[in-house]
Amino acid sequence: MYGLKLRYAKSSLLIVASLIAIILAFSYLPHALLAIVGGLGLILAISYALGRNTWKQTRDIGSRPSQAAGARPTGARPAGARPQRGERKSGGRKSGGRKSRAEARASRRVEILHPEETVTLSAEREAAEIEDVFTSLDNQLVGLVPVKKKVEEIASLLLVDRVRHRFGLDAPRPNLHMCFTGDPGTGKTTVALQMADLLFRLGYLEKGHLVHAMRDDLVGEFIGHTAPKTKRTLERAMGGVLFIDEAYYLYRAGDSKDYGQECIDILLQVMENDRDKLVVILAGYKDRMDVFFESNPGMSSRIAHHLDFAPYNLDELVAIGRAMLDRSAYYLSADAEMAFREYLTMRMGQPRFANARSVRNELERTRLRHAFRLAAEPELSRSKDDLMRLEAADILASPLFALAEPVSAIEESARRR
Ligand SMILES: Nc1ncnc2c1ncn2[C@@H]1O[C@H](COP(=O)(O)OP(=O)(O)OP(=O)(O)O)[C@@H](O)[C@H]1O
Ligand SMILES: [Mg+2]
Repeated sequence: MYGLKLRYAKSSLLIVASLIAIILAFSYLPHALLAIVGGLGLILAISYALGRNTWKQTRDIGSRPSQAAGARPTGARPAGARPQRGERKSGGRKSGGRKSRAEARASRRVEILHPEETVTLSAEREAAEIEDVFTSLDNQLVGLVPVKKKVEEIASLLLVDRVRHRFGLDAPRPNLHMCFTGDPGTGKTTVALQMADLLFRLGYLEKGHLVHAMRDDLVGEFIGHTAPKTKRTLERAMGGVLFIDEAYYLYRAGDSKDYGQECIDILLQVMENDRDKLVVILAGYKDRMDVFFESNPGMSSRIAHHLDFAPYNLDELVAIGRAMLDRSAYYLSADAEMAFREYLTMRMGQPRFANARSVRNELERTRLRHAFRLAAEPELSRSKDDLMRLEAADILASPLFALAEPVSAIEESARRR
């Protein structure tokens, strides 16, 4: 704060002194001499400013860390050279020109290992800090065993690729574009986010963010709109994952006036040429995705990994609900769990059922009813457990049960007849 004030005081003094000098010179010196001295002063000031600028630029280049030290021919960073997300925002290195720990590790890592040396993949996993991603996948997502296995397989391929690179065994960067198929609420977006993080940690993505896009973000409605729209979205996604939800809507078979094909052509080009900078994940229902790939063989051939998200069964949905409640310090009483099973059995057969999302939504409504039930008797003393425990009544108050009742009554009377 004082430094700032002092700087302003110094500048003000300099300006005042210069003004006084100009006024005095103007009053006492011949004007021709004044013009010569003024001109010389101006030339000197400009030369000083230019010289200072050049010197600063050369100094900055000299002190910048060697780009070559961390560069991989495939476009990926070497193990251990992962920048922290925070670092990227703040511009990375601290002042003082000292190498950060990550940079030191990076320069160590690019040294090619001797063929006799050995490495362990567990050490490599630790160096890439990918264990957190798997822990978070396991903690966040109930079931999804085949999906988690596929994610492990992809991670293993990339890990082995990194180790090979340390021995100087170069292989082209693997194709990482993917397709996630499955019903609504089966975890596609959640896994895509984890995948972006995983690829970032392994050094295959520069930023590791995820850009969610649908047809409207990519395809225009008038001639000349589509290319800029698609390119803008691609630019936002560069360095991360472009997640195209319901990708089959990009293409409208039989509609010659549709601009979707223009967008697909640009996507195909970028997926091929910029595959070291961007990973594209297409998502949607499996059957519609299959039709889309049949109509767009170019797209199909660029997708390396297909992950199918199966709908959850009743036990998995209940387990998902339990995990969600656990994370927010609630739980279902034994009766409430039975009521919840009953609710889910009915809900699963209804239109617009969205697997885990329907579970989440219903539990949010249950919390609301629980709070309303407690608030209805404000004078009663409540324990910590009362505040955490959801009762059967909170579930059974769902309008779904009221709707089901007349149906059951009709069925019952029909059976009696
Ligand atoms: N296996 C799971 N375990 C726990 N929570 C899950 C699981 N699968 C999904 N969820 C939760 O359900 C919600 C919906 O998941 P997500 O958005 O990933 O589904 P989606 O497949 O992308 O759905 P949509 O196709 O409708 O976009 C999220 O809150 C997510 O955390
Ligand atoms: Mg989604």
